[in-house]
Amino acid sequence: MSRIAIIGAGPCGLSQLRAFHVAQAKGDDIPEIVCFEKQNDWGGLWNYSWRTGTDEYGESCHNSMYKYLWSNGPKECLEFGDYSFDEHFGRPIPSFPPRQPLREYIIGRAEKSGFRDWVRFAHAVREVRFISDTNQFLVRAVDLVNQTDTEEMFDYVVVATGHFSVPHLPTFSGIDAFPGRVIHGHDFRDAAEFRDQRLLVIGASYSAEDIALQSKKYGAASVTCSYRTGPMGFDWPDGIEELPTIESFDGATAHFSNGERREFDSIILCTGYLHHFPFLPKALRLKTTNRLYPGGLYKGIVWLDNPRLIYLGMQDQYYTFSMFDAQAWYARDIVMGQIDLPSRGEMQADIDKWQQREEALTNPAEDIDFQTDYCKDLSTKVDYSLDWDLVAQNFKDWEHHKEESILSYRDKAFRSPVTQTYAPTHHTSWWEEMNDSTEMFLS
Ligand SMILES: Cc1cc2nc3c(=O)[nH]c(=O)nc-3n(C[C@H](O)[C@H](O)[C@H](O)COP(=O)(O)OP(=O)(O)OC[C@H]3O[C@@H](n4cnc5c(N)ncnc54)[C@H](O)[C@@H]3O)c2cc1C
Ligand SMILES: NC(=O)c1ccc[n+]([C@@H]2O[C@H](COP(=O)([O-])OP(=O)(O)OC[C@H]3O[C@@H](n4cnc5c(N)ncnc54)[C@H](OP(=O)(O)O)[C@@H]3O)[C@@H](O)[C@H]2O)c1
Repeated sequence: MSRIAIIGAGPCGLSQLRAFHVAQAKGDDIPEIVCFEKQNDWGGLWNYSWRTGTDEYGESCHNSMYKYLWSNGPKECLEFGDYSFDEHFGRPIPSFPPRQPLREYIIGRAEKSGFRDWVRFAHAVREVRFISDTNQFLVRAVDLVNQTDTEEMFDYVVVATGHFSVPHLPTFSGIDAFPGRVIHGHDFRDAAEFRDQRLLVIGASYSAEDIALQSKKYGAASVTCSYRTGPMGFDWPDGIEELPTIESFDGATAHFSNGERREFDSIILCTGYLHHFPFLPKALRLKTTNRLYPGGLYKGIVWLDNPRLIYLGMQDQYYTFSMFDAQAWYARDIVMGQIDLPSRGEMQADIDKWQQREEALTNPAEDIDFQTDYCKDLSTKVDYSLDWDLVAQNFKDWEHHKEESILSYRDKAFRSPVTQTYAPTHHTSWWEEMNDSTEMFLS
């Protein structure tokens, strides 16, 4: 029997475990599975931790989430095709859940499946090496509780370690003498820490947008967002503004490229994350920016230079959980011999085709269609179904709602691509709702 190592039990790792579990339930012979997870529980980024820097074992802290984090896209854009929100919660719930109920949904499917004993918790993978003599991978892991090392051979390795945990930390002239606190969004935990402060947020993507809003909502005196390429351009509430790039700091004063200057109390770098795989040698290591179609991966998952190595979820993400499922189902069928890989030349040509299309994209609607087509391309070849066209429409409506009002887009309701039911609206506007507990959300 072949053996497969899955590294990480976040949403991607759980999708892979679920895919094999579904095949097993149908009576297929599945490989022996070992999933290594460095945290004590599954859920990946969705496991909030108060810790920053290192965790209880001295490993780098994986969590990048924070208090009061709500889904930034409608749940009807991330719903699993085989496990609806209605099924999990027993009734329709509003479209933008806070972190905790979303986490409960993600792990709810895993717990129902009953594959927990496939996971070795508190096990960090330190090294993956390809042994060409046997066409296998040697995987070296450390049991973090007992501090013992293990080395085992596997026929396939699935890398599901995420790519929003290792901060990208550019520097700025004079920032080392800034008198206040300077952190990356990865270490942001509680917006209330910045109450009454003049906050500078550097970046112009989802983290910048959400951390700016959170901080204002919980009492920051003012928030200035600095963009490099272009502004987010929303109709911000009073107290939030956007300025171009920072040329230098002079004490607490930032000098912007348009000649403006402002004084700040604290700085949060929302400058993105690195794809970081310290356990992989160069020949196996994906090196990419955060983009919709990273190079070197056939169908966005199969490592071209060694097709027994699979990466999940390495794309820039409009789609999340359902895309991870489509990838995991496809990967499973490769491992189980139900999908044959074409020649290397054909795989490279397929990658080139997708990347050429990606490079011609000009707006979010085209990005959404691109990722929808990618998900469809995978799912039509496996037994995973979802109303992808409805999801795409939901994404486009969501984009319009954000343009209309950055404060109230989370108050809208969407239709499920699984059950076709409409979500109810939440009783309180997101901008007014200070409580993010599951009890409040479901009440
Ligand atoms: C601040 C923030 C907010 C987000 N909000 C949303 C949202 O609202 N909606 C949404 O759909 N998506 C959101 N995302 C996107 C997020 O990427 C996905 O939801 C999802 O968590 C990705 O799953 P993953 O399994 O690829 O990675 P992760 O969730 O990062 O899980 C990777 C797992 O691998 C483990 N691991 C890492 N290295 C090792 C190792 N060497 N050995 C063993 N285990 C290892 C980690 O402990 C972790 O459990 C957000 C991301 C961030 C950063
Ligand atoms: N649920 C939520 O509310 C929530 C909250 C936060 C994050 N998220 C998720 O987290 C993921 C990561 O989002 P992210 O915003 O952290 O990363 P991201 O989307 O990769 O964006 C990185 C940002 O950093 C900027 N940047 C990089 N280097 C810079 C520099 N030297 N100077 C100035 N700006 C620089 C980029 O600017 P350019 O455009 O110029 O490249 C870009 O705006 C996304 O999937 C998102 O959905 C969700």
